[in-house]
Amino acid sequence: MKIVCLPGDGIGVEVTAAAREALAVLAPDLELEDRPFGGAAILATGTPFPDETLAACRQADAVLLGAVGLPQFDAADVRPEQGLIALRKALDVYANLRPSRQGPVDLMVVRELVGGLYYGPKGTRDDGTVFDTLEYHPSQVERIAHRAFAIARGRRHRVTSVDKANVLETSRMWRRVVTEVAAQYPDVELEHVLVDAAAMQLVSAPERFDVILTENTFGDILSDEASAVTGGLGLAASASLGDAGPGIFEPVHGSAPDIAGRGIANPAAMLRSAALMLEHGLDRPDEAHRLDAAVDRALERAPTPDLGGAATTAEAVAAVVEELTR
Ligand code: NAD
Ligand code: IPM
Ligand code: MN
Repeated sequence: MKIVCLPGDGIGVEVTAAAREALAVLAPDLELEDRPFGGAAILATGTPFPDETLAACRQADAVLLGAVGLPQFDAADVRPEQGLIALRKALDVYANLRPSRQGPVDLMVVRELVGGLYYGPKGTRDDGTVFDTLEYHPSQVERIAHRAFAIARGRRHRVTSVDKANVLETSRMWRRVVTEVAAQYPDVELEHVLVDAAAMQLVSAPERFDVILTENTFGDILSDEASAVTGGLGLAASASLGDAGPGIFEPVHGSAPDIAGRGIANPAAMLRSAALMLEHGLDRPDEAHRLDAAVDRALERAPTPDLGGAATTAEAVAAVVEELTR
């Protein structure tokens, strides 16, 4: 099985190296190859998403992605993040699963990933007005809703659909389509919550959520928030899946320029993303569970600074490898 690794930038490079180390022990038959992506690719080739990288991703069984983003490109016309947006669209990975778990909290954000504000018409008008457009076709809502209900069936049978239906036309359609899809899943309970209230409840009562189904931008924001109430971004993993073809597996966090290069990034989010890859991308659930369990135990012994500990990335990975070889 062939995995394309896109380390990208900042701590993306550091945590991808960590994942390689753990996978070499856990699943030595996997063939991993690195490809340029993000800011690193802009510096090497002028574009964040070279054609060769796309071709390699299309042929892979899964894509394991670190993170993209370099401060030097924040104001540039060509930016690392554009590569990520284009990659997700090219592979049509519309379902972004972002689980958060800690104590009584066990929720899954199911974020629509290839529509909405990120992909609508954007630009500058003659008078200087700048615009992004929030658009959804009902079929885009329908397919992500089916995913969310199917996932809820394997969990606590509860979907919270998050929208802004008191203001936005797209949200009114979203709510109608989600309600229609829900009729096919009578064993799953559906509630609709407005996004501002959902943001509040995520902080005040996160344990009330099972599956949170929402559109692209709301899901981006709410998934960082969900990570914050369950141990932080250093732990938050994601899987981006389509109906066919390779999935993309990446941490929720970014390139963390504030700590990049210091060897102190928490590799857990990336290792848990690798576990999601084993489970959802490669159909190897036993190894996925072994990796998750090893990460949980290693974090207790060797917590990184974001968790209040003092372990380096290398020490945390060494602890994971030790747990895997026990
Ligand atoms: P960030 O997620 O990179 O960092 C936010 C905070 O969390 C920082 O203080 C960082 O040090 C901390 N953090 C994140 N991951 C950590 C880890 N594994 N271990 C320990 N601490 C961790 O978000 P940001 O600073 O807003 O963005 C930085 C860059 O990353 C931007 O260019 C942004 O566009 C990009 N970004 C990329 C992705 C991605 O590639 N999927 C996701 C988010 C942000
Ligand atoms: C994420 C990131 C990306 C997003 C950015 C870097 C384009 O924040 O994966 O959550 O907004 O989807
Ligand atoms: Mn984000």
